Amino acid sequence: MSRAVQVALIGQKFMGRAHSNAWSQVNHFFDLGLVAERRTVAARDAGEVAAFAAHWGWKQWTTDWHSIANDDAIGLVDIGTPNDVHAEQAIAMLEAGKHVACEKPLAGSLADARAMRDAAKKARKKSKTFVWYNYRRCPAIGLAWKLAREGRLGRVYHVRAHYLQSWGGADTPLLWRFQKKHAGTGAHGDLNAHLVDLARFLVGEEVVEIHGAIERTFVRERVIPGTKKVGKSDVDDCVLFLASFAGGATASFEATRLAHGHQNDNFIELNGEKGSVRFSFEDMNVLWFCDGTQPLETRGWQRIMCTSAGGGHPYAKNWWPDAHVLGYEHGFINMAADILRVLAGDEPELPLPDFEDAYQTQRVLEAALLSARERRAIKLSDVR
Ligand SMILES: NC(=O)c1ccc[n+]([C@@H]2O[C@H](COP(=O)([O-])OP(=O)(O)OC[C@H]3O[C@@H](n4cnc5c(N)ncnc54)[C@H](O)[C@@H]3O)[C@@H](O)[C@H]2O)c1
Repeated sequence: MSRAVQVALIGQKFMGRAHSNAWSQVNHFFDLGLVAERRTVAARDAGEVAAFAAHWGWKQWTTDWHSIANDDAIGLVDIGTPNDVHAEQAIAMLEAGKHVACEKPLAGSLADARAMRDAAKKARKKSKTFVWYNYRRCPAIGLAWKLAREGRLGRVYHVRAHYLQSWGGADTPLLWRFQKKHAGTGAHGDLNAHLVDLARFLVGEEVVEIHGAIERTFVRERVIPGTKKVGKSDVDDCVLFLASFAGGATASFEATRLAHGHQNDNFIELNGEKGSVRFSFEDMNVLWFCDGTQPLETRGWQRIMCTSAGGGHPYAKNWWPDAHVLGYEHGFINMAADILRVLAGDEPELPLPDFEDAYQTQRVLEAALLSARERRAIKLSDVR
């Protein structure tokens, strides 16, 4: 019989729903050595969190997240709150001996991210850490990772990545995401964070230098929700930067939430000596692969539907018959499965980012901002 881990969740809105769904579905689809039991959900509004707990099957709720640290029954704490509170909550839970799965970016600032990395190091004998870079767990990204590891791309020369959305115009109110004190950065920490994680994951190397960057804020005032007043929107709307990896690969990254027509266009392409891959989340079940070793007559992009259990596509055997496609929520369920595998002492299907790994992503984000603000190249060895 499988053992159980009692889970607590902090935050009950967008990610609260995605994570609650993942914890409630994961053991239906994956045969694991550990069962996730939804014990406690914490958030600030008593009325909302009580209704949320009843709806999503959490046994109890609280408006005091600190109380989770004192509940010995809880093994894993899942953090889905704004970026400025990740550090305080994660460090408290690590000090209480819990495993922690935190949303991305690891934190709103490099100093907070470093403190979280240090706390995770200190607690490593007892606690494991995870960061919800969920796009790693799309089967098409998993296949790209496998092809790269098998040498099908050869040495990677060039990476281009953009993450474009279209909800950051002046009509969108002053959510926490537009306030530096809560979010740290705007499109950069929200969207470039995913790209940098994916690029590091797929290339399998660290970024060593940022060669130049642009950071721009266009919308400077927004309506404060529930009022007619306006407040300051003080985060970036667009950040673009150029980088190189340890093995010499060149890379470009761009993120904005001001791109009409692009709804969730999380795009990455790797071009290597033997082949290329490309992916966009708006067609998330598909990986495009060009095998550069094929005869010129027939060489070209192959459109691979990554839903084949027989083809060994990552996670495919746990879902539907071939070609019955997956969606946004499956990335979170696949990640919940890998977290439970690691907690049970088993191997995840694909490597998971921990706080150390996500700290390396945060260093790249910080270096890009420094590069934009100081108008110069930045070596990653100078950003710690
Ligand atoms: N992995 C992804 O693709 C993805 C997508 C969206 C958001 N995120 C990340 O998830 C996190 C949450 O984002 P969201 O969109 O769910 O935000 P949200 O505004 O929808 O929800 C935030 C929740 O946190 C709660 N909260 C805020 N401050 C708190 C505090 N001090 N103590 C306890 N609870 C508090 C709020 O009550 C709310 O329930 C952010 O770090 C964000 O970057 C990740």
